[in-house]
Amino acid sequence: MRKKVIAGNWKMNKVLSEANQFVGEVATKVPNDTNVEAIVCAPFPFLASLVEKTKDSNVKIGAQNMYFEESGAFTGEVSPVMLRDLGVTHVVLGHSERREYFNETDEMVNKKTHAAFKHDLTPIVCVGETLEQRDANETMTHVENQVKQAIKGLTEEQVAETIIAYEPIWAIGTGKTASSEDANEVCAHIRNVLKDVTSDVTAEKVVIQYGGSVKPATIDELLEQSDVDGALVGGASLEAESFLQLVEAGT
Ligand code: G3P
Repeated sequence: MRKKVIAGNWKMNKVLSEANQFVGEVATKVPNDTNVEAIVCAPFPFLASLVEKTKDSNVKIGAQNMYFEESGAFTGEVSPVMLRDLGVTHVVLGHSERREYFNETDEMVNKKTHAAFKHDLTPIVCVGETLEQRDANETMTHVENQVKQAIKGLTEEQVAETIIAYEPIWAIGTGKTASSEDANEVCAHIRNVLKDVTSDVTAEKVVIQYGGSVKPATIDELLEQSDVDGALVGGASLEAESFLQLVEAGT
């Protein structure tokens, strides 16, 4: 049985004192014996402190992006080596906001995914369609392409370890959640694509999250779906109380 993975994506929010306070509270309240993986994906400046504050807890710390090179003349970038050295365990890759505002391509996402595995980081690879694509019935082909590009060249073992987050762009930060059935339909399609590219056994191991206006009120129904194994949450992950409710829902 796949574990549930609840990841908060804080995006560009909070200052260090707020970040520390949040994890201070959450780290003591997420039980150690749970089957749920709780991850906080925070801005780069907070990572070292948050890793330190969560070290004896069941909360893991992720980054929201990274570059694929290990070091060198890449002003402003952060490498997988740096993240791993801090004790970061996960990294969000190919979020739609990075694709839209920072011109991140499928090819870059693929390079970053390889770099993550090389440095023992678990990638959370984001895919999802625009409203125009959904209206044009292109959701499945678009998501399928993004998934195939992202995992190109990975071993089956690595694919099994990859977390895929299905985030329809029209549902991000809009308050519009895809219905649980719609979310599950796309997540199931992603799993079928993975079956074609790898094997049934591998595809059944992959954790597939849904993201897009997930709230404590909507998480239960999502997690009841056959192919939704967790959530990548923006707005509702910013308050410790609602993040804890989301984690609790996965137990
Ligand atoms: O990565 C999480 C995300 O994009 C969803 O954000 O605020 O709609 O939960 P939000």
